[in-house]
Amino acid sequence: MVLHSFFLCTLLTISLSFHGITALRQLSDSLPKSAGPTKARHVEYQVINVVPTTPGGISFDNKIGIPFTKEIMRTSNNFIWSVVFQQNDPSDQKPVDLIILYIAEFEGPTGIQWGTNINVSSLYVKGLEGDVKWQFTGLMYHEMTHVFQWDGEGTAPLMLIEGIADYALLISSYAPSQFPKKGEGDKWDEGYGITARFLEYCDGITPSFVAKLNKMMRVKYDVKYFEKLTGKPVDQLWKEYKAKYGH
Ligand SMILES: *[C@@H]1O[C@H](CO)[C@@H](O)[C@H](O)[C@H]1NC(C)=O
Ligand SMILES: [Zn+2]
Repeated sequence: MVLHSFFLCTLLTISLSFHGITALRQLSDSLPKSAGPTKARHVEYQVINVVPTTPGGISFDNKIGIPFTKEIMRTSNNFIWSVVFQQNDPSDQKPVDLIILYIAEFEGPTGIQWGTNINVSSLYVKGLEGDVKWQFTGLMYHEMTHVFQWDGEGTAPLMLIEGIADYALLISSYAPSQFPKKGEGDKWDEGYGITARFLEYCDGITPSFVAKLNKMMRVKYDVKYFEKLTGKPVDQLWKEYKAKYGH
C-alpha cells in the first residue's frame, strides 16, 4: 500500500433545488449512443457501518441504508464499465471481485478510496441536507470510479485521477449545481470538476476521449497521450478550451 494510491475526496455538499438538471441535459449530448451491454464480471459489494451508534452512523442507517448503498455500488459499477470507460470486454476491466465500503468517522475528506475499499465519512453523512440519497449517490460515482480507473501504475498525476472521477460524476448526472461550469479554472490539471469539464471538452474533440485515455493509462501515464488522441498537446487544448468558454 503506497501513499499515492489513497484518494482523499471532497465533494461540495450544499444542496440546491434543480441540481442535476443542467448536467442531465448535457449528458444526453455527450453519452456514446452505442454503449453495449457489459459482459458481466461478478463483483460483490459489502457495506459496513462501523459507527452505528454515532449521529452520522444513525443518519446513514435512517436516510441511506445498506441495501440502497449496495444497489448504487452495482449501478455505478455498470455505468463506469459501459459508459465512462466503455470496457465491454472483461479483459479491459480492472479485475475486482469484492468492494468493501465502510461508514467510518473521520474529519476532512468526504471519502477515501484505497484499493478496492472505500471509506465514507459519517460526519459528511450527518451534515447532508435535502436529498441525502441523491448527494450520496454522486459521491459513490466518484469513489467507485477510483476503484475501477487505471492510473498508469501510480504514475498518473493525482489531479488527473480526481478529474476523471469527477468526469464520471458529471456524466452520471449526479453532479451538484455548484459543479464547475465549462471554461472555469486556471490549469487543465487543477483536478476535480475543473479537470472534469476539460475532459468533457476533449471528448467533444475526440469521441470517447476519456475511455481511450483511461485504456492507455493501464500501465503507464504520459502527457503525450493527449496529443496522440487529439492531435494537439495538452497546453494547446487548454488554451483553445479557455478561448472557447473562458471566463
Ligand atoms: C477505513 O475505515 C476502516 C474501518 O473503520 C478502518 O479500519 C480503516 O483504517 C480506514 N481506512 C482509512 C484509509 O482511513
Ligand atoms: Zn477522489
